[in-house]
Amino acid sequence: MPAGIEHEKAAFDVLPDGVLIADENGTVVLLNTAGARLLQRSVDDAIGRDYREVLPVTDSVGHDWWECTRPYGGLAIRTGQPERRLTLPDEREIYLTASYVRERRCGPVQRLVIGLRGAADRERAERDRADLVSTVAHELRSPLTSVKGFTATLLNKWERFNDEQRQLMLQTVNADADRVTRLISELLDVSRIDADRLELHKQVVDVPAAARRVIDGRVAAGETPERFELEVVGSLPEVWLDPDKLDQVLANLLDNAIRHGAGDVKVAIEPVGDGVAISVSDEGAGVSPDIRGLVFRRFWRAGRRGGTGLGLYIVKGLVEAHGGTVFVGEADGGGALFRVSFPAGTPAFAL
Ligand SMILES: Nc1ncnc2c1ncn2[C@@H]1O[C@H](COP(=O)(O)OP(=O)(O)OP(=O)(O)O)[C@@H](O)[C@H]1O
Ligand SMILES: [Mg+2]
Repeated sequence: MPAGIEHEKAAFDVLPDGVLIADENGTVVLLNTAGARLLQRSVDDAIGRDYREVLPVTDSVGHDWWECTRPYGGLAIRTGQPERRLTLPDEREIYLTASYVRERRCGPVQRLVIGLRGAADRERAERDRADLVSTVAHELRSPLTSVKGFTATLLNKWERFNDEQRQLMLQTVNADADRVTRLISELLDVSRIDADRLELHKQVVDVPAAARRVIDGRVAAGETPERFELEVVGSLPEVWLDPDKLDQVLANLLDNAIRHGAGDVKVAIEPVGDGVAISVSDEGAGVSPDIRGLVFRRFWRAGRRGGTGLGLYIVKGLVEAHGGTVFVGEADGGGALFRVSFPAGTPAFAL
C-alpha cells in the first residue's frame, strides 16, 4: 500500500459503504472493510490486483461494465459515473458509483474511486414501502367503495327508499367515513414512528386516572362496567409522559382485549424501576407463543375480527419513543397479557 493510503484506509474503514480506490494504472490501492465484506474477499488479496479483477461487474443485460464505461479511456472531460445497479459474478446486485480523479482538468485519470453499496437492504426497504402502499390502498378501498356505492344509490334512487332505509345507508356511510379517518390517522402515526419523528409533549400524568377515563369511554360506548377491573399495586412514582400518547396506548390495548379477547378485562398498574408498568389482561384465547414475536409488526393481524393490524405496532412505537418496553405473554387464566412499561421520564420536551 503506498504511503498515505494506510492512513486513509483507517478513515474509510469506519464508513458503512464500500470504497475501492485504484491508482493511475488501474491497480487497487485501497479496499475498505465494508467493501471487502460486500465483495466477499480479503483486503490483502485485493490490493495490487487490477480493479476489473477485484470488481468484475456487469450491467442488467450482461455487458462488462468496465468495457462499457472505460474509466481510464474515453473522453477526458468525464468525471465519473452516477449510481448504477450492477451484478457481481455470483448474481448478487450492488449499487456502484465511480469518480475519476484527474490532477488537472482533462488530464489522465490519477485515481479511480468507487463507492459500493449492497442492494439487499435497499431492496428490502423498497419492498416494505411497496407493501405499505398496496396494503393502504386495499384498506382504503373497501370503506370508500361503500361510501361511493351508498351515496350514488341515494342520489339516483332517493324516492325509492323510505326514511328508515335512508337512515341505515347514511349510518353505514358515516361509519365507513370514520374508518377512513381512523386509518389515515393511524397511518400518520406509523409514518412518524418509522421516520423517528414522534413529538412527545411530556407532563406529569396520573396513569390510573388515564386508565379510568379510557375504561369509562368504553362503558359509555356500550360495554358493561362489570367487565372491567382497574387495580393499582403499590405506590406509584411521579412519571412524565405524553398524555395523548398514553391514552392511545391504553385505548389500543383495551380495544384489543375487548375485540380479540373475551371475558373480564383487567388493567393493573404498578411501579417498576423508576417508572410504571401497565398490564392489560383478558380471559380470551390469548396469543399463542409462536405468534408473540409477530403481533407488534406492522399490518400483522390474525382472525376475522376486523382491524388493520396497526394497533400494536403503534403501541410499541409510542412506548419505545418514551424509552419504555412492550411485552406480550399469558394471563393467569390463559388469556392474553400485554404489558407496557414506561420509565419515569424527564420534564424536557423530547423530539
Ligand atoms: N387481547 C388479545 N387477545 C388475542 N389476540 C390478540 C389480542 N390483542 C391482539 N391480538 C392479536 O394481535 C393482532 C394484532 O393486533 P393489532 O392491535 O396490532 O391489530 P388489530 O387489532 O387487528 O387492528 P387495529 O388495532 O389496527 O385496529 C390481532 O389481529 C390479534 O390477532
Ligand atoms: Mg388492535
